Amino acid sequence: MPLRHRTTLTQYLIEERRRFPNSKGNFNALILDVALACKAIARAVAMGELGGLYGDHAAEAGGAINVQGETQKKLDVLSNDLFIRMNEWGGHLAGMASEEMDHPYQIPKPNPRGKYLLVFDPLDGSSNIDVNVSVGSIFSVLRAPQDAIDSGRDLTEQDFLQPGATQAAAGYALYGPTTMLVLTVGNGVSAFTLDPNLGEFMLTHPRLKVPEDTQEFAINASNSRFWEPPIKRYVDECLAGKSGARGKDFNMRWIASMVAEAHRILMRGGVFMYPKDNKDPSKAGRLRLLYEANPIGMIMEQAGGRASTGREPMLSVKPSGLHQRIGLVFGSKNEVERIERYHREPVEIENNTPLFAERTLFRD
Ligand code: AHG
Ligand code: MN
Ligand code: MN
Repeated sequence: MPLRHRTTLTQYLIEERRRFPNSKGNFNALILDVALACKAIARAVAMGELGGLYGDHAAEAGGAINVQGETQKKLDVLSNDLFIRMNEWGGHLAGMASEEMDHPYQIPKPNPRGKYLLVFDPLDGSSNIDVNVSVGSIFSVLRAPQDAIDSGRDLTEQDFLQPGATQAAAGYALYGPTTMLVLTVGNGVSAFTLDPNLGEFMLTHPRLKVPEDTQEFAINASNSRFWEPPIKRYVDECLAGKSGARGKDFNMRWIASMVAEAHRILMRGGVFMYPKDNKDPSKAGRLRLLYEANPIGMIMEQAGGRASTGREPMLSVKPSGLHQRIGLVFGSKNEVERIERYHREPVEIENNTPLFAERTLFRD
C-alpha cells in the first residue's frame, strides 16, 4: 500500500484538532509522546528472551511486589519507566499515576508542568509475558484541577479521583502479531497499526463500532463458585445454548490480557466480565478502575458498546482510591444491558422466595 494512501497518527491528530481552533497542540504532543512510549515497549516486548527481559523484576533479590500485592515482571518495570521518561519532559502533564507506582508521580523540576494527567497500566496481561501471548498498555488522559495548573503545586491522589466520564482521551496499545494503537479523543474510536519499518502508526481501522449483539462471552470460569447470582444466571444461560432461555449457542474465550479481550470485542463484538465476586470480600473486583476499567469503558462507549459495574455505568463511578478495584462488564450493548437487568431483577432461590440478587450473597 503506497504511503500516501494512509493517514498517520500525527495527521489524524492534526485533523481532529481542527475542530478546536483555540487548542495549542499540547494535547496532540502528549498523545504522540504516549505513542512513542508504546513503540518503545513494543520493541522491548518483541525482543523477548533475546532482550533478557523475561521473568520477575529483581528475581535475585526475591522479587519486587507492587502496590497491588502482585509480583512485578521485568517488563512491567521497564514499561512503567518508558511511560515516565517519554512523558515527563514535554510540559503537557501536571502529573502521572500508574499501576506500578504507589503514589502519583510528580513532574521533576525543572521540567515545565502542564494541564493534563496521565494514568496508565504500563503492561496489561503480565501473566502472559513469559509465554509470548499478547499484552498491551492502557492509558487515560484527565484534566488536572485548575488550582494545580495555576500554582504548579504537587499533585495529590485526590486530584486523580475523577469519574471516567471526564476523561479527555483514552486508549491502549496491543502488542500482538502486529502492534496496534487504539484511541479515542471523544469523537469515536480509531485504530492504527504500527508500520515497524517506518516507525509510524498508520490509520487502518477508522470509526470502529462494536456490534450490539453477540454470541461470544469471556469470563474466568475458575471463579464461578464465587460469582453473584446475576452473573451465574447470565453464564448459565449462555452455556445452555440453543436449548436454553437464550435460544442460541454461545462461544467462549479467555486470554487473561484484558486489553486483548477488549480488542477482540471492539473488532467483532462480545462481552467481557470480571465481575465483583465474593472470593475476597476486601476487594470489589479484580481490575482497577482508573487505569483499566475507565479507559476501556470510554473506548467501548465511544464505539457504541457499553461498560458497567453490572449495577451502574462504569464512567459515572466516583473513584475513591488510585488503585481501587471494581467489577467490570463491557462489550456489546445489548448483552451488557441484559447483565445490568439481571442485577436489578429479583432472583429465584431454592425455596422460591424472591430476593434481590445482592442479598442472596448473605445466605446459602
Ligand atoms: P495486569 O497484568 O496489569 O496486572 O492485569 C492483568 C489482568 C487482566 O489483564 C486480565 O483480564 C486479568 O488480570 C486476568 O486475571 P486472571 O488471572 O484472574 O484470569
Ligand atoms: Mn492490567
Ligand atoms: Mn499491568
